[in-house]
Amino acid sequence: MITLSDLSALRTQIESWRRGGNVAFVPTMGNLHEGHLALVRAARKLADRVVVSIFVNPLQFGAGEDFDNYPRTMERDSSMLEGEGTDLLFAPSVAVMYPKPQEQQTRVEVPGLSSLLCGACRPGHFVGVSTVVCKLFNMVQPDIAVFGKKDFQQLMVIRRMVDDLAMPVRVVGAETVREADGLAMSSRNGYLSPDERRTAPILYRVLSGVATRLREGSDDYEGLQVQAARELEESGFTPDYVAIRRASDLQEPEADEKDLVVLAAANLGKARLIDNIDLSR
Ligand code: PAJ
Repeated sequence: MITLSDLSALRTQIESWRRGGNVAFVPTMGNLHEGHLALVRAARKLADRVVVSIFVNPLQFGAGEDFDNYPRTMERDSSMLEGEGTDLLFAPSVAVMYPKPQEQQTRVEVPGLSSLLCGACRPGHFVGVSTVVCKLFNMVQPDIAVFGKKDFQQLMVIRRMVDDLAMPVRVVGAETVREADGLAMSSRNGYLSPDERRTAPILYRVLSGVATRLREGSDDYEGLQVQAARELEESGFTPDYVAIRRASDLQEPEADEKDLVVLAAANLGKARLIDNIDLSR
């Protein structure tokens, strides 16, 4: 595995690979777990070369969020990626990614989608995500990019950006990888105390309950949302939202909508956990 942090070396390497085959790309913020590795394995199956980036992107963290404390575990990450047959790890510094002060950085904004749900709770977050992913795509020039469905709204924002800006990248979504007790894997699970860790799987259990009711035909979206948020509160979470939305655009669904997704974000101790169940498939 080649490890690079410099843009011109990256371009030279990718250029030679692209002459003989295709390149799949998995952007991450590091502190890798099985969820990330599943994306790398999917990428491995889809292309001749696999590039993974690790960059904790300051632009997508709000003031008072966990940018400074976000776990940085480069050596461990690097050996995990090597074990998965990654061809290249791109790990730029903040100075390489953002040479100018943040307020002078050109941004990419996907309107509408970026201000709902997690975007409403974390203003500026998705502009930070779409900007860094656009920039990483321009740096890596992948044919294919793999993202997790765990971050459902993020995946939609990226798909919309690629479509709206005619980027020549095929975006592939990979299933959410869970712990044995149902908790979606996340770098932020490490913030949980042992007690909170025992509580955390309730998030998925509550979403599964809502999904069951929807599959049974309930269209009392408001009632289901309120009840689910109450269950989370009673278990010790502070929910940001529980939302039943149309899977195609995250708008509020019509009464007989079939294409649904149920999403939630909830704080537990120092961790902000998100999860979703896509009923549209
Ligand atoms: P990060 O949270 O490190 O996640 C990197 C990728 O791994 C994302 O596509 C995410 O959806 C996926 N992922 C995380 N946990 C997963 C799980 N349990 N199952 C399946 N996939 C999972 O998301 C980001 O970083 C950043 O916003 C980024 C896209 C890199 C831009 O900075």
